Amino acid sequence: MKTGGAGLSRRAFLGAGAAIGGLALLAPTRTGAARAPFDPQSFAPTREVTLTAGEMELKLLGPDKPATRILAYDGIPFQTLRMPRGTRLKATFVNGIDEGSTLHFHGIRMPNEFDGVPTLTQPLVQPGGRFNHLLPLDDPGTFFFHPHCDETGQAGKGLAGVLIVEDTRDPAFDAEHVLCLKDWRLAPDGRFLALSEPEGASKAGTFGATRTVNGAAAVELTAPAGGHVRLRILNIDSTRIMDIGVEAGGAKDAEAWLIAVDGHALTPVRLDDLPDGVWRMGPAQRIDLDIRMPANGSPVTLGDYRAADIYQFATLTAAGKVAKPRKGPLALPKPELPKPDVKKASRLSFTLQQATGQAVKDLALPADDPLAKALIDSLCVGSTTYWGIQSESWPTGSNRNVPPPLARMATGGSYVVEIKNETRFPHPVHLHGHAFEVLSSSLDRLPRHFADTVLVQPGEAVEIAFVAAPGDWVFHCHILEHMETGMMGWFRIV
Ligand code: C2O
Ligand code: CU
Repeated sequence: MKTGGAGLSRRAFLGAGAAIGGLALLAPTRTGAARAPFDPQSFAPTREVTLTAGEMELKLLGPDKPATRILAYDGIPFQTLRMPRGTRLKATFVNGIDEGSTLHFHGIRMPNEFDGVPTLTQPLVQPGGRFNHLLPLDDPGTFFFHPHCDETGQAGKGLAGVLIVEDTRDPAFDAEHVLCLKDWRLAPDGRFLALSEPEGASKAGTFGATRTVNGAAAVELTAPAGGHVRLRILNIDSTRIMDIGVEAGGAKDAEAWLIAVDGHALTPVRLDDLPDGVWRMGPAQRIDLDIRMPANGSPVTLGDYRAADIYQFATLTAAGKVAKPRKGPLALPKPELPKPDVKKASRLSFTLQQATGQAVKDLALPADDPLAKALIDSLCVGSTTYWGIQSESWPTGSNRNVPPPLARMATGGSYVVEIKNETRFPHPVHLHGHAFEVLSSSLDRLPRHFADTVLVQPGEAVEIAFVAAPGDWVFHCHILEHMETGMMGWFRIV
């Protein structure tokens, strides 16, 4: 078993008095006034939750195998919160683990100060500390939440939860299930293997071999024969890109439609009409499917078809039958998102790159230097740089501050951003605080849709458009090792 990894391990520097002087130097302060401060008086919470990060045991290797000490919020693996659209949520994050962390609500459009990005929007929450997030949940859909510090370590050990914003206007489905896909890097004794290896971090990522859905090897679900099932599928893995497909034996009347991406409804697309009949989904991406079950009661299976070795993660078996089968698809109400004016938009282009030569350098301090440790902790990044966006890496070499923004934008302006991938690996690129419209792919493989994360294939250029919301928002690859080794930047929107 290898240890070490790509230098991504960042324990809290507990009792490291020597680091205090360094901390003042690092000044993990806010990066200036990007926006008028949010007035908490204007926010009356209608729902309050406390989410406490902590350790727990879960049998991931099988019922008679040793358990693994994973991380979870409130001792519930992939805890699912359901709230009605329009909820004003006050979520208190309590850090019950032994290193700094923050809570980020992925895909939620919110005031910037609740975005959970250490240094940029808030200080790191130290062990025992807490932070209040005030979140207007106006967009219905399937979202999730996770830490935004040492994500390879913390999310890699399971720290994530699901946030479903329900919409009473949705069509009535005959069944609904949530499926969280995540792999784990485990030794036979149940302990974690190194969650990052340089070989992985600098290439496609460090993969887990224990594949799970909702913490199990596979799940058996039910739905009435002839009925419509809504599946909310989340790729919460750190690394793996999956090709989600559906099989229904020979049943001709079965059908599967993609009805939402990253929570946002799109004009339903038959999975069969997509390239290879699958939806390719990178880490952090979510889809909602409408599956019409065969009327004869035969089962439907779901799998990841990306590797030759297909991973069948769920079986839907018939339980009862619907009285009056509906043809479908059952489309969700159209999203009510700010619509970018593509014709008048300002245009920007960013290239995803492998950092080379000069850019690949460790911090200019020995790794055991308390100052180096404090720096890595405060920025929540790795000590090694393998990747960049537009030749900028986060942080670059010995840069002791947040790098300058990749772009400055005007609040309310429409922007078309081209994302070009010049690397040999696919990257799921995420922009915080916005839902963007995916306009086009140079490989012509994507239907037009809203999303918060888009997978960009090697050699591909994808165009997204959005209406800029005020704040300092990070823009990063969601392969966690990639973001922590440089593939992250930010936009300042004023
Ligand atoms: Cu899931 Cu920076 O985000
Ligand atoms: Cu990446």
